[in-house]
Amino acid sequence: MVTNSNTKTKSKVVIVGTGMVGMSYAFSLINQGTVKELVLIDIDKERAEGEAMDLNHGLSYAPRKMKIYAGEYSDCKDADIVVITAGVPQKEGESRIDLLNRNATIMKIVVGQVMKSKFRGIILVASNPVDILTYVAWRASGLPPSKVIGSGTSLDTARLRFEIAQKINISVKNIHAYIMGEHGDSEFVCWSQAYVGAKPLVDVIESMKEIEFKHLEEIHNSVKNAAYEIIKRKKATYYGIGMTLVSITSAILNDENRIIPISVYNDGTYDTVKDLYIGLPAVINAEGVNYVMKLKLNNKEQEQLNHSASILKGVLDQMEF
Ligand code: LAC
Repeated sequence: MVTNSNTKTKSKVVIVGTGMVGMSYAFSLINQGTVKELVLIDIDKERAEGEAMDLNHGLSYAPRKMKIYAGEYSDCKDADIVVITAGVPQKEGESRIDLLNRNATIMKIVVGQVMKSKFRGIILVASNPVDILTYVAWRASGLPPSKVIGSGTSLDTARLRFEIAQKINISVKNIHAYIMGEHGDSEFVCWSQAYVGAKPLVDVIESMKEIEFKHLEEIHNSVKNAAYEIIKRKKATYYGIGMTLVSITSAILNDENRIIPISVYNDGTYDTVKDLYIGLPAVINAEGVNYVMKLKLNNKEQEQLNHSASILKGVLDQMEF
């Protein structure tokens, strides 16, 4: 079969962690026909086996033929992407940073096992606190930073776009706006670079009665607090992050060069604290991060980025690597 040199012909994904996030991601992958081979790994092997059996029984209705099985870390060897969702979930009222130490230990163990398989693909981290744990994964992997990414503020951005779309009654697909910074309480909206189609959002606000500038702060707060509100009601979040992970997976497997605000290593593209992972718009393709896209931040946004970066750096500085 003739394929683009970067388009994946195998499209093999390994999911580590078959909890609700991992399985929501798996279910979305299968229904969107994104992969040809899907491996499920969990410390509870029987659970991974049961999940694989359950998913296989739906394959008659899936958009494409695929192979799904419970596997071992040795199955990572020829995988394109290893997606790590393993870790203990956030409890009601608990911040993502509170989860840190428990999940950092798990991350180091998992990545060590993945790399033992001679894995040379891309690691995608979803476990929280995702910016910190993606840094932990990168350090433990020995891979170049472009090959280790986290979901970052991609889900927050999807929430932001949904809220704006609802407010102005325009398709979410025409809303171009980014949340940047920590996937957490210090995240911020890059309002100055937000667009509705080709029209700046600030111009839309002036021309539409449905939305006023005061609504922007309300939208930002509802996005920032979304996870807490969902967890208060249903104990966890998983569908939104599951579908968000599929969009990142598709950008890699289909070599899309798609702009996604993921947790990415700050290589100096943004003039803020370096040597950390943080939510920035990045161009994603078959090789992982093609490059970090620099947006022109106004003074307030630059301050918000610096504040968010300093919070993450403060956490990293207390950790041992
Ligand atoms: C959330 C989790 C994925 O924001 O952190 O729903």
